[in-house]
Amino acid sequence: MMKGIVLAGGLGTRLKPLTTITNKHLLPVYDKPMIFYPIQTLVDAGIDDIMIVTGGTNAGDFLRLLKNGKAFGLKGLRYAYQEGEGGIADALGLARHFAEGERILVMLGDNIIEKNITAAVEKYREQKDGAKIILKEVDNPSDYGVAKLDGDRVIGIVEKPEKPKTNLAVIGIYMYDSNVFDIITTLKPSGRGELEITDVNNAYIERGNMTYEILDGWWADAGSSIDGLLKTNSMVARTGANNK
Ligand code: DAU
Repeated sequence: MMKGIVLAGGLGTRLKPLTTITNKHLLPVYDKPMIFYPIQTLVDAGIDDIMIVTGGTNAGDFLRLLKNGKAFGLKGLRYAYQEGEGGIADALGLARHFAEGERILVMLGDNIIEKNITAAVEKYREQKDGAKIILKEVDNPSDYGVAKLDGDRVIGIVEKPEKPKTNLAVIGIYMYDSNVFDIITTLKPSGRGELEITDVNNAYIERGNMTYEILDGWWADAGSSIDGLLKTNSMVARTGANNK
């Protein structure tokens, strides 16, 4: 059985002053707090055991908001606390005990999708081992991890390249086998002082153990700028999110 992890740590400095008092993932996106959307995506993909990784001074608010996950039909929710903001891979490392050797489906707490990832997760379940990422064509690839393909293989990912080689962004939904936690322990902080999820993905690519899917429907990184948040609000209002 796959387990789900939603990463909701970090300081959200790009959204100040909205995040001076509260955590970015608790801000409203149309009619719900931001974190409701990634949790729903995991639930729709058939995941019923989920851990939320958060941090900062508002960690208790997640417990007050989400409680035991009953509103999502979950049996329970687990929580982990990230000290500091050492990066996405650092936050993920905190889920090692929770994962207990199972495969995991990880989603960034500020990512929202229009449709669902059921088909991609089904394919990953059939994959013997390794990892799977999801790609989406975008107009501004320099803001994201950017994938280079060779036929139907991913051959490398560059984090926020100045001169992107393709317009295929790596979205914040990742599927990993239990090797991911050993890979994380080998990482060194990047130029921005973080353990990068892109380095984790490149480690799988080097092992020849990474597959990809292309996302159907829109994808939003709601937490990257005030304008991005505004745009995401109107997209959700117009089409809804997590549509079947
Ligand atoms: O949104 C997709 C992009 O997310 C990918 O294309 C990039 O490859 C990936 O590095 C990431 O880029 P960002 O710079 O947008 O990541 P950000 O710092 O905004 O963090 C995204 C989420 O990860 C955030 O909503 C909460 C979680 N996070 C982040 C950090 C830095 C943590 O839980 N802990 C952290 O220390």
